[in-house]
Amino acid sequence: MQIDRTLINASGLGATQDQELGFGNVFSDHMLVRDWAHGEWGRAAITPREPISVEPSALGIHYGQSVFEGLKAYRGSHDGVIRLFRPDRNAARLEASSERLCIPTLPAEEFIECIRQLVATDAAWVPKEREHALYVRPMVFASEGHLAVRPARSYKLVITTAPVAPYFSSRSRALRLKAESRFTRAASGGTGAAKTSGNYAPTLWPMASAAEEGFDQILWLDAQEHAFAEEAGQMNIFFRIGDEVVTPELSGTILPGVTRESALRLLEDWGIKATTRRVSMMELAKASEEGSLLEIFGAGTAAVIASVASISHLGKEISAAPAASGSLAERLREELLGIQYGERPDPHNWIQVVS
Ligand code: COI
Repeated sequence: MQIDRTLINASGLGATQDQELGFGNVFSDHMLVRDWAHGEWGRAAITPREPISVEPSALGIHYGQSVFEGLKAYRGSHDGVIRLFRPDRNAARLEASSERLCIPTLPAEEFIECIRQLVATDAAWVPKEREHALYVRPMVFASEGHLAVRPARSYKLVITTAPVAPYFSSRSRALRLKAESRFTRAASGGTGAAKTSGNYAPTLWPMASAAEEGFDQILWLDAQEHAFAEEAGQMNIFFRIGDEVVTPELSGTILPGVTRESALRLLEDWGIKATTRRVSMMELAKASEEGSLLEIFGAGTAAVIASVASISHLGKEISAAPAASGSLAERLREELLGIQYGERPDPHNWIQVVS
């Protein structure tokens, strides 16, 4: 695939050296843009990162016809090699999200090639520090200016990259979640399974009030009964109950996370019973009371594997009682990071080497 290239004169890397990375504070030198019009994708171009001009009536910003993805490029600290983790799964999810939002799809191999070339161009921006990575954010939005609520006739793919630290800065402290009993994230038949911008803005207000109450994240519940755990917005959720690990099944209202899928596979490899099914708050409260709720953790590209200490539900604390047999969250985290940084074998061929 031919990608046009205009490179920056002077890299901004040096100037950002002392800046705290956080998650999304710093961006690399280049971006990739590609337009879709007249029924086909045009040529992709890597250019210096700069503001893009947007038609003021773009359907993407007015009616939310936009989808995005998130994946990371990791640099092995022992060999300097840059690796992508399962970009084919992000390509498949982008395709599914695009179909749901009436956005033209992008062939998976072209999506991956765009990312490979962009990451290779900004290879110097892939952090050397373990657990830091170059986050890749592809997004496709409806760029046509129009006022009718209908699928646009033109779209723009923009891929930017950002060196990042882990999403949750305080790894030393397990997270506190609030099970949200008033607001919901996604209802049956809606867009919960798609990675679309419109799933995120409505969570800001409930998230801000949860933060005011001292919580780190929200655990979203099902929209119908507010009784079943769904996901935590920026990550999927797992519960270790007795000798079983459970995560809510993909019912159409939960984002099918790549880390979720990978964690399930690793648990299966290790002979640990891992089930996807509905998990009620009542079951969790009972397990917590009986001491069989051994772990709660989130899984996501940005979050990796994040331990959760407790979930507050209708004023009651549902807490995990750490198992004497050691933390599965920690084992999963180390295995995933080990594969991503090229330190451990990759039996499922999840890694694609960039350079
Ligand atoms: C990711 O994990 O890549 C995400 O997209 C979460 C993001 C919304 C912070």
